[in-house]
Amino acid sequence: TWTTTNVVEESVAAIREQVGTKRAICGLSGGVDSAVAAALVQKAIGDQLTCVYVDHGLMRKGESEQVEKDFVAATGVQLKVVEAEERFLTALAGVSDPEEKRKIIGREFIRVFEQAQAELVAEAGAAGEAVEFLVQGTLYPDVVESGGGTGTANIKSHHNVGGLPDDIEFQLVEPLRRLFKDEVRMVGQELGLPDEIVHRQPFPGPGLGIRIVGEVNKERLDLLREADAIAREELTAAGLDRDIWQCPVVLLADVRSVGVQGDGRTYGHPIVLRPVSSEDAMTADWSRLPYDVLSRISTRITNEVDQVNRVVLDITSKPPGTIEWE
Ligand code: XMP
Repeated sequence: TWTTTNVVEESVAAIREQVGTKRAICGLSGGVDSAVAAALVQKAIGDQLTCVYVDHGLMRKGESEQVEKDFVAATGVQLKVVEAEERFLTALAGVSDPEEKRKIIGREFIRVFEQAQAELVAEAGAAGEAVEFLVQGTLYPDVVESGGGTGTANIKSHHNVGGLPDDIEFQLVEPLRRLFKDEVRMVGQELGLPDEIVHRQPFPGPGLGIRIVGEVNKERLDLLREADAIAREELTAAGLDRDIWQCPVVLLADVRSVGVQGDGRTYGHPIVLRPVSSEDAMTADWSRLPYDVLSRISTRITNEVDQVNRVVLDITSKPPGTIEWE
């Protein structure tokens, strides 16, 4: 019979069998899949696992802390954090085009992650150990979509860092391959992961970088982080988290409009709220949020966030609009 306890026990046994006494690496994204995969592997092989978290500076308020503190506290996992905000912001400087931003963020992410991986492999090698496994949070729907294959990942290092192997091959450990998303959440709960991670709504890999229409910089990111935190706080307080699929909060950094705030005229930026309901993100409808909740979010954002003097609601379904703005 299917129970989360059985799933955890069977997975732990299978992981131990597969990995043996070798070492494994797992990248954490802040999302539920990589967190649950890592927690399962940690339960199975303990300190033979090291997780890597690349902080690209594009996360929402409190999210990096959730990984760096709460996840570590809940699992006892060994974590290597790579602070890469400056590197990402430098690479993104002057770029407004959405596809260009996505390419840059993806490229930098792979480079930083692979370098961290290569360093871990080199460190383990120096200690007479071998890192042969890479943990991935592949779900059943991903397996079906990609034709069911499993196997190896070939990681090439693009860096001239002395002493690093320049071509590493890993066996994949994919403990979630037979699970659907809701089952992954149940397993995460069983493993004692924090609710904020287990019930996290979808959040794009490129993070807030694709929620700023216009150039990305630290000041704009901080401003958007504040607005987003307010929206999330109010949606949670109203008990709406499980009713909506997600609610991107977008900063129109290239748009200004006139307002009146305090004792004078302002010329600030609009924030867009994009609450949607959906089954699978392929199609979506805009969520009919209660007016009083929308009103509280709007009042708080315009009062509390510098340079924002207008909040607008996106009432477009998907199609024609995508969920994200970029
Ligand atoms: P769109 O904007 O295409 O988004 O309607 C559909 C769903 O996918 C998420 N999304 C991403 N997730 N990396 C991700 O991991 C990405 O680059 C990415 N872009 C969009 C989006 O938040 C929504 O849930």
